[in-house]
Amino acid sequence: MEIAIQTLPEQQRKPLFTDSSSLGFGRIFTDHMFTMRYHPEKGWHEPKIEPYRALEFEPATIVFHYGQEIFEGTKAFVGEDGQVRLFRTDRNIARMNRSAERMCMPRVPEDVTLQAIEELVRVDRRWIPKERGTSLYIRPTMIGTDPFLGVRASDTYLFFVILSPVGAYYAEGFNPVSLLVDKRFTRAATGGTGEAKAGGNYGGSLLAGRIAAEKGCAQVLWLDAKEHRWVEEVGAMNIWFAFGNKLVTPPLTGTILPGVTRESLVELAPKLGYEVEQRQVAIDEVLSGIKSGEITEVFGSGTAAVVSPVGKIVTEEETVVINDNKVGPVSQHLFDELTGIQMGAKPDPFGWVRMLDK
Ligand code: COI
Repeated sequence: MEIAIQTLPEQQRKPLFTDSSSLGFGRIFTDHMFTMRYHPEKGWHEPKIEPYRALEFEPATIVFHYGQEIFEGTKAFVGEDGQVRLFRTDRNIARMNRSAERMCMPRVPEDVTLQAIEELVRVDRRWIPKERGTSLYIRPTMIGTDPFLGVRASDTYLFFVILSPVGAYYAEGFNPVSLLVDKRFTRAATGGTGEAKAGGNYGGSLLAGRIAAEKGCAQVLWLDAKEHRWVEEVGAMNIWFAFGNKLVTPPLTGTILPGVTRESLVELAPKLGYEVEQRQVAIDEVLSGIKSGEITEVFGSGTAAVVSPVGKIVTEEETVVINDNKVGPVSQHLFDELTGIQMGAKPDPFGWVRMLDK
């Protein structure tokens, strides 16, 4: 498929951000976007890069009513060598296709999608911030576009990709965040959409997220739906517990998002001298392990979150503080190694990085 490219004239482009240390997450968008449409008879068609613009749809459009939407998050980096690198974007595209199957949506062609993302990043490469801890966040999204109020899968779809220069996901930056455990709420149950990257998973988490914020917590630490006992994930990231040199993360049982950063740490950490164990962890084990000192650090992993230390876990009964609410050596080490590979400052033994200019 030939991607049509329509770029904005130089004088109509937006002014760049001035300070990459205060970017935050997901507030600024670049000059261009990628779009392509799906029709059952035509398949994916009209792939194009065009100026970033508002989208217009009829109020009856399926996505507005029944949430037939999936998305991804992947990143491009500029290293000190000036080279642009994409980090494991192929894994995000593969996951998008798994989400698509779960949500009755068409698969995107993996090669065209990767090519489109690369081309879009090339067009907007001046927007990639350079500082360690910053990147160009890439948001591929697919929506059902039939104007129809019956509950069924859409026949037509729009796939688009937008770009946003970002710094740390949390307002805390790389400082530890607090997580709330609230057994009244559930993110995902077996057989549901928890392992798909579907917008509805996030919509359903907002009330618990608001209560967490009221209690001074950045996010919710979700437990399993059945017993409210087993730790699952944090919504915007997967969760890890350091028992000294042993790193434990819950297994992918179908209700947890299979994070690309999680998958990367599972491979990377053993090379750095850690043992990785994927096993169920009960919330009681977490709380008692932190109090006894057996659990030395807690951190999250995600594309947006990178490696984010957790400093407190708040439950209805108590607040437990981890590592004095300070960034621990394991989180720091993994953050440095991972961002080192992403920025080209460290070798890439796994071939995770794809250079934009080959
Ligand atoms: C990501 O890490 O890319 C995410 O999608 C998490 C969140 C921003 C929804």
